Amino acid sequence: MSTESPPPLFERMLGMLEPAQLLAWAMSHYIRVCSEAVFQNGQLFAPITQTRRLRDEAFGRFWIEFTSPRQMSSDPTNTEIPEPVGSSALIPPLLRTATGTVLDIGPGTGTQMPLLTSPSITALYGAEPCISLHSTLRATAAAAGIASKYHILPSGVAASDLLPALRATNTGVVDQYDADPRAGIFDTILCVRVLCSVPEMERTVKELYGMLKPGGRLLVTEHVVNPWKRAKGSLLGRIVQGVYQVLGWSYFIGDCCLDRDTERVLRGVADVDGGWESVELESAFEWSAMPYISGTLVKKMV
Ligand SMILES: C[S@@+](CC[C@H](N)C(=O)[O-])C[C@H]1O[C@@H](n2cnc3c(N)ncnc32)[C@H](O)[C@@H]1O
Repeated sequence: MSTESPPPLFERMLGMLEPAQLLAWAMSHYIRVCSEAVFQNGQLFAPITQTRRLRDEAFGRFWIEFTSPRQMSSDPTNTEIPEPVGSSALIPPLLRTATGTVLDIGPGTGTQMPLLTSPSITALYGAEPCISLHSTLRATAAAAGIASKYHILPSGVAASDLLPALRATNTGVVDQYDADPRAGIFDTILCVRVLCSVPEMERTVKELYGMLKPGGRLLVTEHVVNPWKRAKGSLLGRIVQGVYQVLGWSYFIGDCCLDRDTERVLRGVADVDGGWESVELESAFEWSAMPYISGTLVKKMV
Protein backbone atom coordinates (compact mmCIF):
# COMPACT_ATOMS: atom_id res chain seq x y z
CA MET A 1 0.00 0.00 0.00
CA SER A 2 1.12 3.53 -0.70
CA THR A 3 1.88 5.74 2.25
CA GLU A 4 2.46 8.98 0.35
CA SER A 5 -0.16 11.69 0.60
CA PRO A 6 -1.33 13.32 -2.63
CA PRO A 7 0.08 16.78 -3.45
CA PRO A 8 -2.14 19.88 -3.36
CA LEU A 9 -4.83 20.26 -6.03
CA PHE A 10 -2.87 22.64 -8.27
CA GLU A 11 0.13 20.28 -8.41
CA ARG A 12 -2.19 17.35 -9.10
CA MET A 13 -3.72 19.21 -12.05
CA LEU A 14 -0.26 20.06 -13.42
CA GLY A 15 0.73 16.43 -12.97
CA MET A 16 -2.18 15.36 -15.19
CA LEU A 17 -0.64 17.47 -17.98
CA GLU A 18 2.84 15.94 -17.80
CA PRO A 19 2.01 13.03 -20.13
CA ALA A 20 0.72 15.61 -22.64
CA GLN A 21 4.23 17.02 -22.91
CA LEU A 22 5.65 13.57 -23.59
CA LEU A 23 2.94 12.88 -26.14
CA ALA A 24 3.59 16.14 -27.99
CA TRP A 25 7.31 15.41 -27.96
CA ALA A 26 6.86 11.90 -29.36
CA MET A 27 4.40 13.21 -31.99
CA SER A 28 6.93 15.78 -33.16
CA HIS A 29 9.45 13.00 -33.80
CA TYR A 30 6.88 11.01 -35.75
CA ILE A 31 6.05 14.02 -37.93
CA ARG A 32 9.77 14.64 -38.53
CA VAL A 33 10.43 11.00 -39.47
CA CYS A 34 7.45 10.94 -41.87
CA SER A 35 8.56 14.24 -43.44
CA GLU A 36 12.08 12.90 -43.98
CA ALA A 37 10.70 9.77 -45.63
CA VAL A 38 8.49 11.79 -47.96
CA PHE A 39 10.54 14.90 -48.72
CA GLN A 40 14.16 13.72 -48.32
CA ASN A 41 13.92 10.09 -49.42
CA GLY A 42 11.08 10.48 -51.92
CA GLN A 43 9.07 7.67 -50.27
CA LEU A 44 5.71 9.29 -50.89
CA PHE A 45 3.61 6.46 -49.52
CA ALA A 46 5.88 5.44 -46.64
CA PRO A 47 3.58 6.96 -43.96
CA ILE A 48 0.88 4.57 -45.19
CA THR A 49 2.84 1.52 -46.35
CA GLN A 50 5.71 1.56 -43.80
CA THR A 51 3.88 2.74 -40.71
CA ARG A 52 5.52 0.23 -38.38
CA ARG A 53 9.05 1.10 -39.48
CA LEU A 54 8.44 4.84 -39.19
CA ARG A 55 6.79 4.49 -35.79
CA ASP A 56 9.74 2.43 -34.49
CA GLU A 57 12.23 4.92 -35.88
CA ALA A 58 10.35 7.88 -34.39
CA PHE A 59 9.96 6.18 -30.99
CA GLY A 60 13.67 5.26 -31.00
CA ARG A 61 14.66 8.88 -31.62
CA PHE A 62 12.21 10.16 -29.02
CA TRP A 63 13.43 7.72 -26.38
CA ILE A 64 17.11 8.47 -27.06
CA GLU A 65 16.39 12.18 -26.66
CA PHE A 66 14.16 11.69 -23.63
CA THR A 67 16.79 9.60 -21.81
CA SER A 68 19.80 11.64 -22.95
CA PRO A 69 22.05 12.83 -20.09
CA ARG A 70 20.85 16.42 -20.57
CA GLN A 71 17.23 15.44 -20.03
CA MET A 72 18.08 13.12 -17.13
CA SER A 73 20.17 15.82 -15.48
CA SER A 74 19.23 16.94 -11.99
CA ASP A 75 20.29 20.46 -12.94
CA PRO A 76 17.37 22.62 -11.73
CA THR A 77 17.87 25.07 -14.60
CA ASN A 78 17.05 22.29 -17.06
CA THR A 79 13.28 22.66 -17.15
CA GLU A 80 12.55 21.64 -20.73
CA ILE A 81 10.62 18.42 -20.14
CA PRO A 82 10.11 16.94 -16.68
CA GLU A 83 10.44 13.22 -16.06
CA PRO A 84 7.29 11.16 -15.72
CA VAL A 85 5.94 11.86 -12.27
CA GLY A 86 8.92 10.99 -10.10
CA SER A 87 8.90 7.33 -11.12
CA SER A 88 12.67 7.20 -11.50
CA ALA A 89 13.11 7.38 -7.74
CA LEU A 90 11.39 4.00 -7.36
CA ILE A 91 13.93 2.16 -9.50
CA PRO A 92 17.41 2.30 -7.85
CA PRO A 93 16.65 0.53 -4.54
CA LEU A 94 14.89 -2.23 -6.44
CA LEU A 95 17.41 -2.88 -9.21
CA ARG A 96 20.35 -2.88 -6.81
CA THR A 97 18.99 -6.19 -5.49
CA ALA A 98 19.42 -7.96 -8.87
CA THR A 99 21.67 -11.05 -8.75
CA GLY A 100 22.77 -14.03 -10.84
CA THR A 101 21.63 -14.42 -14.44
CA VAL A 102 19.45 -11.42 -15.23
CA LEU A 103 16.93 -10.74 -17.99
CA ASP A 104 16.41 -7.03 -18.66
CA ILE A 105 13.30 -6.67 -20.81
CA GLY A 106 13.00 -3.58 -22.97
CA PRO A 107 16.17 -1.88 -21.67
CA GLY A 108 15.70 1.02 -24.10
CA THR A 109 18.89 3.09 -24.07
CA GLY A 110 20.12 1.36 -20.91
CA THR A 111 19.30 4.10 -18.42
CA GLN A 112 19.21 1.48 -15.65
CA MET A 113 22.65 0.04 -16.41
CA PRO A 114 24.57 2.05 -13.78
CA LEU A 115 22.39 0.21 -11.24
CA LEU A 116 23.42 -3.19 -12.59
CA THR A 117 27.13 -3.25 -11.94
CA SER A 118 27.12 -5.51 -8.86
CA PRO A 119 29.61 -8.42 -9.06
CA SER A 120 26.77 -10.67 -7.84
CA ILE A 121 25.27 -10.31 -11.33
CA THR A 122 26.95 -12.96 -13.46
CA ALA A 123 25.33 -12.23 -16.84
CA LEU A 124 22.75 -9.83 -18.25
CA TYR A 125 20.53 -10.35 -21.27
CA GLY A 126 18.77 -7.26 -22.62
CA ALA A 127 15.82 -8.08 -24.94
CA GLU A 128 15.29 -4.89 -26.94
CA PRO A 129 13.24 -5.17 -30.17
CA CYS A 130 13.76 -1.52 -31.15
CA ILE A 131 16.96 -1.94 -33.16
CA SER A 132 17.56 1.80 -33.49
CA LEU A 133 18.26 1.86 -29.72
CA HIS A 134 20.99 -0.80 -29.88
CA SER A 135 24.00 1.43 -30.58
CA THR A 136 23.14 3.67 -27.61
CA LEU A 137 22.50 0.58 -25.48
CA ARG A 138 25.90 -0.83 -26.43
CA ALA A 139 27.62 2.46 -25.60
CA THR A 140 25.84 2.65 -22.23
CA ALA A 141 26.94 -0.90 -21.36
CA ALA A 142 30.54 0.03 -22.18
CA ALA A 143 30.33 3.23 -20.14
CA ALA A 144 28.95 1.28 -17.16
CA GLY A 145 31.82 -1.23 -17.47
CA ILE A 146 29.51 -4.20 -18.02
CA ALA A 147 29.86 -4.68 -21.78
CA SER A 148 31.53 -8.08 -21.34
CA LYS A 149 28.54 -9.54 -19.48
CA TYR A 150 25.70 -7.60 -21.15
CA HIS A 151 24.23 -9.45 -24.14
CA ILE A 152 21.95 -7.34 -26.34
CA LEU A 153 19.22 -9.45 -27.89
CA PRO A 154 17.47 -8.13 -31.02
CA SER A 155 14.23 -9.64 -29.80
CA GLY A 156 11.00 -8.97 -28.03
CA VAL A 157 10.17 -10.75 -24.81
CA ALA A 158 7.73 -13.30 -26.24
CA ALA A 159 9.24 -16.76 -25.65
CA SER A 160 8.99 -17.59 -29.36
CA ASP A 161 11.36 -14.65 -30.07
CA LEU A 162 13.42 -14.65 -26.93
CA LEU A 163 14.43 -18.31 -26.67
CA PRO A 164 16.03 -18.45 -30.17
CA ALA A 165 17.79 -15.14 -29.45
CA LEU A 166 19.15 -16.52 -26.16
CA ARG A 167 20.34 -19.71 -27.90
CA ALA A 168 22.07 -17.59 -30.55
CA THR A 169 24.32 -16.06 -27.84
CA ASN A 170 26.01 -19.48 -27.49
CA THR A 171 26.41 -18.90 -23.77
CA GLY A 172 24.54 -22.05 -22.80
CA VAL A 173 22.08 -19.99 -20.78
CA VAL A 174 19.09 -22.04 -21.95
CA ASP A 175 20.69 -25.50 -21.79
CA GLN A 176 19.16 -26.52 -18.46
CA TYR A 177 15.79 -25.07 -19.43
CA ASP A 178 15.86 -27.00 -22.72
CA ALA A 179 16.51 -30.21 -20.78
CA ASP A 180 13.80 -29.44 -18.20
CA PRO A 181 11.73 -26.23 -18.42
CA ARG A 182 11.01 -26.41 -14.68
CA ALA A 183 14.66 -25.42 -14.13
CA GLY A 184 13.89 -21.95 -15.49
CA ILE A 185 16.57 -19.67 -16.93
CA PHE A 186 16.89 -16.47 -14.90
CA ASP A 187 17.57 -15.65 -11.25
CA THR A 188 16.24 -12.13 -11.76
CA ILE A 189 13.93 -10.61 -14.36
CA LEU A 190 13.69 -6.82 -14.60
CA CYS A 191 10.46 -5.22 -15.81
CA VAL A 192 10.95 -1.46 -15.79
CA ARG A 193 8.35 0.58 -17.69
CA VAL A 194 7.94 -2.15 -20.29
CA LEU A 195 4.93 -4.37 -19.51
CA CYS A 196 2.90 -1.35 -20.60
CA SER A 197 4.24 -1.87 -24.14
CA VAL A 198 4.45 -5.62 -24.73
CA PRO A 199 1.76 -7.15 -26.92
CA GLU A 200 -0.43 -9.73 -25.09
CA MET A 201 0.71 -8.78 -21.61
CA GLU A 202 -0.97 -11.75 -19.85
CA ARG A 203 0.77 -14.24 -22.09
CA THR A 204 4.10 -12.41 -21.76
CA VAL A 205 3.91 -12.40 -17.97
CA LYS A 206 3.07 -16.12 -18.00
CA GLU A 207 6.09 -16.82 -20.18
CA LEU A 208 8.34 -14.68 -18.01
CA TYR A 209 7.15 -16.55 -14.93
CA GLY A 210 8.03 -19.82 -16.69
CA MET A 211 11.56 -18.51 -17.38
CA LEU A 212 12.22 -17.66 -13.72
CA LYS A 213 14.22 -20.23 -11.82
CA PRO A 214 12.59 -21.62 -8.65
CA GLY A 215 13.31 -18.98 -6.01
CA GLY A 216 13.91 -16.44 -8.80
CA ARG A 217 12.74 -12.85 -8.44
CA LEU A 218 10.75 -10.57 -10.71
CA LEU A 219 11.65 -6.91 -10.05
CA VAL A 220 8.92 -4.58 -11.28
CA THR A 221 8.48 -0.84 -11.70
CA GLU A 222 5.54 -0.25 -14.02
CA HIS A 223 2.95 2.42 -14.60
CA VAL A 224 -0.54 0.99 -14.44
CA VAL A 225 -4.22 1.76 -14.82
CA ASN A 226 -5.39 4.23 -12.20
CA PRO A 227 -6.95 2.22 -9.33
CA TRP A 228 -9.82 4.73 -9.21
CA LYS A 229 -12.19 2.44 -7.33
CA ARG A 230 -9.76 2.30 -4.38
CA ALA A 231 -9.65 5.01 -1.73
CA LYS A 232 -6.34 6.47 -2.97
CA GLY A 233 -7.15 6.19 -6.66
CA SER A 234 -8.51 9.03 -8.80
CA LEU A 235 -11.46 8.96 -11.16
CA LEU A 236 -10.05 12.04 -12.86
CA GLY A 237 -6.69 10.27 -13.29
CA ARG A 238 -8.50 7.33 -14.89
CA ILE A 239 -10.44 9.63 -17.26
CA VAL A 240 -7.27 11.49 -18.24
CA GLN A 241 -5.60 8.16 -19.02
CA GLY A 242 -8.50 7.39 -21.39
CA VAL A 243 -8.14 10.79 -23.05
CA TYR A 244 -4.42 10.28 -23.72
CA GLN A 245 -5.13 6.83 -25.14
CA VAL A 246 -7.69 8.35 -27.55
CA LEU A 247 -5.18 11.06 -28.54
CA GLY A 248 -2.77 8.37 -29.78
CA TRP A 249 -0.55 7.67 -26.77
CA SER A 250 0.01 4.02 -27.77
CA TYR A 251 0.57 4.90 -31.41
CA PHE A 252 3.25 7.51 -30.80
CA ILE A 253 4.88 6.07 -27.67
CA GLY A 254 6.04 2.63 -28.74
CA ASP A 255 2.73 0.78 -28.12
CA CYS A 256 2.72 1.93 -24.49
CA CYS A 257 -0.72 1.60 -22.82
CA LEU A 258 -1.64 3.75 -19.84
CA ASP A 259 -4.52 1.54 -18.77
CA ARG A 260 -3.16 -1.92 -18.01
CA ASP A 261 -4.04 -3.74 -14.80
CA THR A 262 -0.52 -5.12 -14.52
CA GLU A 263 -0.73 -5.81 -10.78
CA ARG A 264 -3.67 -8.20 -11.20
CA VAL A 265 -1.86 -10.10 -13.95
CA LEU A 266 1.40 -10.31 -12.00
CA ARG A 267 -0.25 -11.51 -8.81
CA GLY A 268 -2.37 -14.09 -10.65
CA VAL A 269 0.30 -15.67 -12.82
CA ALA A 270 1.73 -17.84 -10.04
CA ASP A 271 -1.63 -19.40 -9.17
CA VAL A 272 -0.62 -22.51 -11.15
CA ASP A 273 1.98 -23.17 -8.43
CA GLY A 274 -0.21 -22.14 -5.51
CA GLY A 275 0.92 -18.50 -5.64
CA TRP A 276 4.20 -16.61 -5.26
CA GLU A 277 6.52 -17.31 -2.34
CA SER A 278 6.24 -13.60 -1.53
CA VAL A 279 4.89 -10.42 -3.10
CA GLU A 280 6.04 -6.99 -1.98
CA LEU A 281 4.44 -4.39 -4.23
CA GLU A 282 4.07 -0.71 -3.36
CA SER A 283 1.74 1.69 -5.17
CA ALA A 284 2.72 5.27 -5.87
CA PHE A 285 1.22 8.37 -7.51
CA GLU A 286 -2.30 6.89 -7.43
CA TRP A 287 -3.70 10.41 -7.70
CA SER A 288 -2.17 10.82 -11.17
CA ALA A 289 -2.53 9.69 -14.79
CA MET A 290 0.64 7.62 -14.32
CA PRO A 291 0.31 5.64 -11.10
CA TYR A 292 3.07 3.10 -10.49
CA ILE A 293 3.53 -0.25 -8.86
CA SER A 294 7.01 -1.17 -7.74
CA GLY A 295 8.47 -4.15 -5.92
CA THR A 296 9.51 -7.79 -5.89
CA LEU A 297 7.71 -11.06 -6.56
CA VAL A 298 9.55 -14.24 -5.55
CA LYS A 299 8.82 -17.59 -7.19
CA LYS A 300 8.35 -20.61 -4.94
CA MET A 301 11.08 -23.23 -4.73
CA VAL A 302 9.74 -26.46 -6.23
C1 LIG B 1 9.25 3.06 -22.02
S1 LIG B 1 10.64 2.25 -22.64
C2 LIG B 1 11.49 1.79 -21.14
C3 LIG B 1 12.95 1.55 -21.31
C4 LIG B 1 13.72 1.20 -20.03
N1 LIG B 1 13.21 -0.01 -19.42
C5 LIG B 1 13.67 2.35 -19.07
O1 LIG B 1 12.94 2.28 -18.09
O2 LIG B 1 14.36 3.34 -19.29
C6 LIG B 1 9.89 0.72 -23.14
C7 LIG B 1 10.89 -0.19 -23.82
O3 LIG B 1 10.28 -1.46 -24.06
C8 LIG B 1 10.65 -1.90 -25.35
N2 LIG B 1 9.67 -2.89 -25.82
C9 LIG B 1 8.51 -2.67 -26.47
N3 LIG B 1 7.91 -3.83 -26.76
C10 LIG B 1 8.71 -4.80 -26.27
C11 LIG B 1 8.64 -6.23 -26.26
N4 LIG B 1 7.62 -6.87 -26.81
N5 LIG B 1 9.66 -6.92 -25.68
C12 LIG B 1 10.70 -6.27 -25.10
N6 LIG B 1 10.81 -4.92 -25.09
C13 LIG B 1 9.83 -4.21 -25.65
C14 LIG B 1 10.69 -0.61 -26.17
O4 LIG B 1 11.43 -0.76 -27.35
C15 LIG B 1 11.34 0.34 -25.18
O5 LIG B 1 12.73 0.30 -25.24
